[in-house]
Amino acid sequence: MTKEPNLSDLESRLDKSSLPRHVAVIMDGNGRWAQRQGLPRVRGHEAGAESVRAVVRTCRRLGVEALTLYAFSEENWARPKAEVAALWKLLGRFLKQERAEMLAQGIRLNAIGSLHKLPTATAQALRKVMADTAGGRQMVLTLALSYGGRQELTEAAHRLCRRVAAGQLRPEDVDEAAVAASLYTHDLPDVDFLIRTSGELRVSNFLLWQMAYAEFYFTELHFPDFREAALVEALTEYARRQRRFGQTGQQVEEAARGR
Ligand code: IPE
Ligand code: IPE
Ligand code: MG
Repeated sequence: MTKEPNLSDLESRLDKSSLPRHVAVIMDGNGRWAQRQGLPRVRGHEAGAESVRAVVRTCRRLGVEALTLYAFSEENWARPKAEVAALWKLLGRFLKQERAEMLAQGIRLNAIGSLHKLPTATAQALRKVMADTAGGRQMVLTLALSYGGRQELTEAAHRLCRRVAAGQLRPEDVDEAAVAASLYTHDLPDVDFLIRTSGELRVSNFLLWQMAYAEFYFTELHFPDFREAALVEALTEYARRQRRFGQTGQQVEEAARGR
């Protein structure tokens, strides 16, 4: 029988110079993970919170600049009320427990989405940790909460229209940079690497604009089973990819040699 590679073996094989700047994760499969074991779905979300810790720590340790986690979609409001309430409660607990570590690790907490829809207590706790960690320079951790990519783009369109109507901007000045600057993610680099767990092959309204040239990675693992080793494996796969941005493979190789 072949031995399962351990974390340090995996990490030693990872080319640290080819890490993505911005990793985004669609954390899916918590419910199925729990149901598979005859547990209530909420237990899956709790186990998923442990994976969040593992993913945050690992990205920070390896030097990933930006990590964005899809924690609650605009569409997730349609779930049973008790599950929605349990998710917000869990987030509150997570914020309380992780604040000290975020501060110690220089992690800046950020949030994107229709944040005004969050329960008051959750929004308050979130604002507090965001303010407390505002000086963090090592990594920005963005939580997508009540987030929808189409809603984000629609809001950006509204913002730009208002500026045009106010005479602050000419229609011809609305270029890609102006759109990007009107998004929730205006201060983040584009997504380099998108991971989705649980075997679903879709983007579910996540970061539609920002993913234009992201590399996609899908794993059958449910999110509660996605821990350090699984992440390092995913990053190793990323490091092997050739990103061409429309150019030929040869052009990309030549540019890399000339560096
Ligand atoms: C992802 O797990 C977490 C959220 C969407 C909040 P799910 O809850 O979607 O788990 P499945 O897809 O039902 O297994
Ligand atoms: C996407 O997962 C949203 C989050 C991970 C927060 P869903 O489980 O809600 O996605 P669909 O509905 O299966 O596409
Ligand atoms: Mg799901």
